[in-house]
Amino acid sequence: MLRVILIFGALCGCIYALDNGLARTPPMGWMAWERFRCNIDCKNDPKNCISEQLFMDMADRMVEDGYRDAGYEYVNIDDCWSSKQRDAQGRLQADPDRFPNGIKALADYVHKRGLKLGTYGDYGNLTCGGYPGSLGHLEIDAQTFADWGIDMFKMDGCYADPKTMDKGYPQMTKYLNQTGRPILFSCSWPDYQRASGIDVNYKLIAENCNMWRNYDDIQDSWDSVLGIIDYYAKEQDTLAPVQGPGSFNDPDMIIVGDFGLSYEQAKAQIAMWTIFAAPMLMSNDLRTIRPEFRELLLNKEVIAINQDPSGHFGKRVLQDGNIEAWTRNITLGSYATVILNRGTDGSPRNVTTTGAKLGFHTWIYMVVDVFEDKRVGQFDSDMEFSVLVNPSSAVLLYSYPCS
Ligand SMILES: *[C@@H]1O[C@H](CO)[C@@H](O)[C@H](O)[C@H]1NC(C)=O
Ligand SMILES: *[C@@H]1O[C@H](CO)[C@@H](O)[C@H](O)[C@H]1NC(C)=O
Ligand SMILES: *[C@@H]1O[C@H](CO)[C@@H](O)[C@H](O)[C@H]1NC(C)=O
Ligand SMILES: *[C@@H]1O[C@H](CO)[C@@H](O)[C@H](O)[C@H]1NC(C)=O
Repeated sequence: MLRVILIFGALCGCIYALDNGLARTPPMGWMAWERFRCNIDCKNDPKNCISEQLFMDMADRMVEDGYRDAGYEYVNIDDCWSSKQRDAQGRLQADPDRFPNGIKALADYVHKRGLKLGTYGDYGNLTCGGYPGSLGHLEIDAQTFADWGIDMFKMDGCYADPKTMDKGYPQMTKYLNQTGRPILFSCSWPDYQRASGIDVNYKLIAENCNMWRNYDDIQDSWDSVLGIIDYYAKEQDTLAPVQGPGSFNDPDMIIVGDFGLSYEQAKAQIAMWTIFAAPMLMSNDLRTIRPEFRELLLNKEVIAINQDPSGHFGKRVLQDGNIEAWTRNITLGSYATVILNRGTDGSPRNVTTTGAKLGFHTWIYMVVDVFEDKRVGQFDSDMEFSVLVNPSSAVLLYSYPCS
């Protein structure tokens, strides 16, 4: 039922969006950084170092364990992949020991499996990990990525002057476009400007980037997840209007299946990223992930809501102590709602609310608890209904109008 409803629904275009045909819905895939960092010690830790083998392993898992078929598409390299030197023609080159076959061969490997390859660079003199940056090399780097068959490029902002980013990032947009290869462009631009107290021009950013990081890097903890949620709540009136098909706010990677989040907290991260219509880039070890986390990541109904074609950014509509409610408009007058319980007092909270309080139109709705895969019931917007929300967890509701 849910999927049938989500398939219809008019595409609502965002006037600012970058016009490269990509990221019409939030990008989905896997990214190395949060889980594997800058581990370059392939001698002592060959299974976990940043190497072509790591990305081939993850591509294999994505295909064989159902992630690709669920919509996860991009396999993304992050920092520490390159050689410390450019080649004789001034081009970036992969570290020869860790990527003996080069990035082009890795792209071929990934493409053969129906996936896409992303890579990482930096707008400044150096990447955050100290590898060559793209300042003064934007054009040749864009061309190199296109020649290799790269499908997504994340441009970080270390060792750069944030004041120059309003000029520099759009230059890269232009160079990527001139290659003729559609390359999804992920920008760290607003995050660096925010951190240095510059007013962020989100209109310009949405015109030039398919997605952008606004806030601190995610770390492997519930505190980090809550910190990002709080920042998004504080800025929701700024962030909501600039998001839509082609351009998405990026609260950073999904850390489900790592060390820091319990099962209940993992549900909450996925539910909140669904409310944000956020990119779903997992950073975890798909070779060893526990089955219950894999099941969460593969939940078809959750993915369908995250990928709803409207791309709207949801907002916090209620806050009462440890309980908050977030609502996102999705197509055909339906809503996704998260009831988040930040409490730690051990017992589930019985939260009673109404559609009207959650921001629904005046109508009768069927309310579905998505993780539990069960109907809460049918309610007109002034009728109270109750859900039990576990501590440090969330309930994701999908409510559609009854005809
Ligand atoms: C980048 O490096 C050049 C040459 O060393 C230096 O002049 C410039 O200030 C550096 N830029 C930044 C933003 O660090
Ligand atoms: C380049 O930009 C033009 C105009 O915005 C757009 O139509 C075209 O699809 C873009 N091409 C690529 C490869 O991004
Ligand atoms: C949902 O859309 C309605 C009508 O456009 C708007 O008034 C409301 O603020 C939106 N709700 C959220 C949470 O964005
Ligand atoms: C939750 O509260 C509602 C409204 O007071 C009540 O009808 C319902 O029985 C309660 N559920 C539980 C499990 O306590």
